[in-house]
Amino acid sequence: FSSTMARFNLEGDEIKPLTICLISGGCFIGSHLCEKILADTFHKVIVVDVYTDKIIHLFNRSSPWLDRIVFHNVDNNAESSRLEPFMQKSDIIINLTSINHPADYNTRTMDTIYCNFIDAVPVVRYCTRKKKRLIQFSSCEVYGKTIGSFLTEDHPLREDPKFYVLKEDESPCILGPTEKKRWANACAKQLIERLIYGREVNCSIYVFLLFVLFVTLSLTLHLSSNAAESAKFGLEFTIVRPFNWIGPRIDYIPGIDGERRGVPRVFACFSSNLLRGESLELVEGGHSKRTFCYIKDAIEALLLMIENPEKANGHSFNVGNPNNEVSMKELANLMIEVYANVSGQPASNFSTVDVSSEDFYGIGYDDCDRRIPDMTLIHRQLGWIPMTSLQEILEVTLRYQHETYSEAVKHATSES
Ligand code: UGA
Repeated sequence: FSSTMARFNLEGDEIKPLTICLISGGCFIGSHLCEKILADTFHKVIVVDVYTDKIIHLFNRSSPWLDRIVFHNVDNNAESSRLEPFMQKSDIIINLTSINHPADYNTRTMDTIYCNFIDAVPVVRYCTRKKKRLIQFSSCEVYGKTIGSFLTEDHPLREDPKFYVLKEDESPCILGPTEKKRWANACAKQLIERLIYGREVNCSIYVFLLFVLFVTLSLTLHLSSNAAESAKFGLEFTIVRPFNWIGPRIDYIPGIDGERRGVPRVFACFSSNLLRGESLELVEGGHSKRTFCYIKDAIEALLLMIENPEKANGHSFNVGNPNNEVSMKELANLMIEVYANVSGQPASNFSTVDVSSEDFYGIGYDDCDRRIPDMTLIHRQLGWIPMTSLQEILEVTLRYQHETYSEAVKHATSES
């Protein structure tokens, strides 16, 4: 247990203990981040959320970190001012609030826009006003479709990475028409990113003017100027674009996890199908591709951002694993193979079935064809490289799904 050991940043400077406010910290990502911070650092966390099921294990009486975690049951989409006391006590605010299940974008479009943009605005404003560092969660979804998706299937340029690899400071954000409600999340996240960048730019102009004034005065009054001081005036921010992070505690299993209803993301959908012995449903044949990143690898990246503000501030980072690309059809077949092993059943017990997107999600769905993150920026700034292969991720996570849910699913199925 290393919470008392000194920690050093990438520059070799000693890191001071921080208080970190996790807004919506009871979620999948928040739960893993809390675990990491509590187990491996001396930082404190203030978790604000209405859900505790994914973090309740951290409050076990025998846990050695009970004096470093506090939970506040606050619905952060209500009065944003309710968050202020917690943000005030913190050195960094990490805003994890998000509606990020595609099935919700069609059916809860307004909630998606409110949650992913409007509710985040007061947090950005507060951090700017009070000079608090902000780590804002965005989404890989801001990139939308790849340029390559507009070429014919057999076009040779489809093989050129320029047409599909997504690069923070170069790739366009290509969203579908407004009628396709699928893009509500991407659009809202893009807008919050642009608001944050706008703050920084505005502040920079302001800082620049102050700096000019300060230098003029310094020269006149023979005062020495300290250039680093000027950084104090801008909004210190880092934006995170997660690319399909998966691992234990992701989303929920419909009908089993308390009140959570609806359609979760693909890994949880396929898990639910496997647990119930249903066919895994491939939307539009399962041709869309994703790159999956292990949550624990992603958490390493987040900790590097937290502890290295000099390297992380002012950037939007792709956080994903470009080596783990699969089509949804390939993912389904891999999950069947791994789950058969984990559960001791023959793979022939499981199957896939094609479904139309309209039947699965309703009208207004659209899709991102591919999502390969460019890793240049995060590697250059933070030296981060994702390590875990898709096979390993599936083995660990499907074992967790089986151990956590198989009995409950059997029970629920026998009752109905
Ligand atoms: C979602 C969110 O929209 C993003 O904001 C978020 O960043 C991303 O997840 C993430 O996890 O990082 P997406 O990858 O499209 O984006 O969400 P999924 O629901 O996991 O869908 C992935 C693909 O699987 C889609 O092509 C979907 O149509 C397909 N799918 C989903 C199936 O074929 N079957 C299912 O049962 C569920």
